[in-house]
Amino acid sequence: MPTESKLCCSLLAVVAVVSGYVEELDEKFMEHRQNELWLVEFYAPWCAYCHTFEPIWYEVGAELKSMGSPVNFNIHGYPTIKLFKGELSFDYKGPRTKDAIIEFTNRVAGPTVRHLSSVQLFQHAMSHHDLFFVYIGGKSLLKAQYHKVATEYIIHTYFFSASVDVLPKAVTLDEVPVIAVFKDGTYYLYNEVLDGDLSPWVNRERFPSYFQIDNFSLYQMGELSKLVALAVVDEMTPSEESILYKTLIERLSTEYRDQYKNDYQFGYVTDTEYINGIIMGEIMMPSIIVLNMSVDGYFLPGSKIETIEDVIHFLNSVLRGSVKLLGGNGILQQTKRLFYKTKSTVVTLFQTAPAFCCVVCALPVGIVVIIIWGTCTALPADDERLAEEATSSAASDGKRAKLLQPDNREKTSEEKKED
Ligand SMILES: *[C@@H]1O[C@H](CO)[C@@H](O)[C@H](O)[C@H]1NC(C)=O
Ligand SMILES: *[C@@H]1O[C@H](CO)[C@@H](O)[C@H](O)[C@H]1NC(C)=O
Repeated sequence: MPTESKLCCSLLAVVAVVSGYVEELDEKFMEHRQNELWLVEFYAPWCAYCHTFEPIWYEVGAELKSMGSPVNFNIHGYPTIKLFKGELSFDYKGPRTKDAIIEFTNRVAGPTVRHLSSVQLFQHAMSHHDLFFVYIGGKSLLKAQYHKVATEYIIHTYFFSASVDVLPKAVTLDEVPVIAVFKDGTYYLYNEVLDGDLSPWVNRERFPSYFQIDNFSLYQMGELSKLVALAVVDEMTPSEESILYKTLIERLSTEYRDQYKNDYQFGYVTDTEYINGIIMGEIMMPSIIVLNMSVDGYFLPGSKIETIEDVIHFLNSVLRGSVKLLGGNGILQQTKRLFYKTKSTVVTLFQTAPAFCCVVCALPVGIVVIIIWGTCTALPADDERLAEEATSSAASDGKRAKLLQPDNREKTSEEKKED
């Protein structure tokens, strides 16, 4: 038993260093694992050595940060971007492109619910946004609720209000007030009885029913409480099979919308890097895959997909629980994924900047060695207690993981004082 704990303690240290490093490489990746970052519990109260090490760690982070492109791009591709508005702060979660960031800024900085007071303004909204929500009607309880939900989701999409007389002719309503989402070239109405609470409904409907999903959207879908059914296709030289898979998934999103809208988000991906990270291997091209993004799990069809019935059978089997969930974020899988991610990052880094890579890669390895040595020599032999504390503090305090983020330095040192 003591041997096992010892092993476990070394493992914790290794994972901590590696993940701290990976976090620098790719924040999305780590954000996604915030809850799991407790593995990183370097700074557990019992680990005196870790406290000594902490400032060095920050220096490492700062140093790497200051090194500039292309390394800077590889290592700090995803700084946290927040918009502060009054007392509220809004996290930007989209791609790090100029246009996307400016669009986000304008959307969030303006009124949370914009009023469309004329037919022209409504047309303008339709021609400028592929997807938006509209509250239709006068003052009501529903409107107050809508405002609240809009504040929650303005970081993702647009919220408008309008009166019935500015709506396009094609829109027919049985009653007002009502909330509609305009997307997929049509609109869907919110029905409290069938759809449940407003906030989860907005969350479920905030993506087009079928679209090309990039890694940012995919990552966001961890909060969607839907499975993601994807055609993974090569768009450069699409094979017949690629086209078939895309068509099948698109048909499911439209013809079977009512059946699947609460359980599945549909789409296709052409950039397989993120998917490969989840399955920790190379996905076959083309493929149909179902992802559970909240646990980084996935499902693959047991037999070849040829018809829409084959896909329906597959989707239903997943819902019934009769297809095995692969991957996921159990401790073993997390560790495996961290190593997989680190390995592929190092490979990419080595290909783009071999000399730099030698320096940077040697660094963490050196640190790992020091940590293992430090952890295993500086600690008392009371292994069982250590393991227990590690687990309980990890489970109770996900925040500690942030200690490894150079950006949160001030906040985290305060947190530490409280300890
Ligand atoms: C997302 O994709 C872009 C473009 O393909 C890539 O540069 C970026 O590293 C990817 N990010 C993640 C989190 O995988
Ligand atoms: C994803 O997996 C978790 C754990 O197995 C499960 O609780 C959750 O319901 C799944 N998500 C969806 C959308 O099915």
